[in-house]
Amino acid sequence: MTSPSTPFPHRHLLGIAGLAPHEIRYLLDEAEHWVALNRAASRKHDGRLEGLTQINAFFENSTRTLLSFEIAGKRLGADVINMHAAQSSVKKGETLIDTAVTLNAMRADVIVIRHQSSGAVRLIADRVDCPVLNAGDGRHEHPTQALLDALTIRTRKGSVEGQIVTICGDVLHSRVARSNMLCLTALGAQVRVVAPPTLMPAEIERYRVAPFHDFNAALRDADVIMMLRLQNERMDGAFIPSSREYHALYGLTPERLALAKPDALVMHPGPMNRGVEILSSVADHPEKSAITEQVEMGVAMRMACLDVLTRRSRGVAGWA
Ligand code: CP
Repeated sequence: MTSPSTPFPHRHLLGIAGLAPHEIRYLLDEAEHWVALNRAASRKHDGRLEGLTQINAFFENSTRTLLSFEIAGKRLGADVINMHAAQSSVKKGETLIDTAVTLNAMRADVIVIRHQSSGAVRLIADRVDCPVLNAGDGRHEHPTQALLDALTIRTRKGSVEGQIVTICGDVLHSRVARSNMLCLTALGAQVRVVAPPTLMPAEIERYRVAPFHDFNAALRDADVIMMLRLQNERMDGAFIPSSREYHALYGLTPERLALAKPDALVMHPGPMNRGVEILSSVADHPEKSAITEQVEMGVAMRMACLDVLTRRSRGVAGWA
């Protein structure tokens, strides 16, 4: 923690855990400002990060998160450098800590990290002098995804508070589910999580959510349905009999969508496995699907996070 008198006193953004509801709302409010400006014809903004070096160190594949952090940094005027682990000295056996020390020696002003191991981002954050943003670590957290999801719900529904949000899929391996359970409950949503017994975390009782195994039951009266991908890359064994059987029980179809409220919103963090957890007719629904809007909100949300977390080093009044 730094600067306890500021609206966001944290040095890093490593997870939603540890954030107070008013701090989450502060980041959402800040992002709202960028949504409007990003829709304007000229999207090169006020250059508040000019002269700052942003390193995006991605040890795991990404399309949305990497590109939106890159666009966010560039729209704010930062010099953005992407480090892909596949082309780095990690491939020659360099340790995570040595990589962190190397990035620090280059005097980065902000580092964005995605890593396949839970806790790896904190390990790096403890060894560098600049703010670190977690772009997804193992099964642990993906805080900016949860924030952009909350921003999407707030934009479409007016508020997160009181919404019934059904999260369905591979909850066990999903950092998106974990961050969303924390974020949405902090903002006052009623969260239901649905998964086959093999893909429901044993510690689900720790979250203030209602667990379900029956998708149809969990869909009744839902305001928002958030679908998750089967994270095959994190599975060491067979967790489901087959994709076809999984789809039959847990796939979002137009028939299932009709069980939710008539104006229910469909969300998915991406990447999607069409025909497995969601059918294209639902994913591409012109009114009900907010999936591309989530991507749009991602840029604004990441601009807000980069701006807020670098205020202290930029000497912004009140953030010293
Ligand atoms: N939602 C998400 O994290 O997508 P990417 O893996 O493409 O970044």
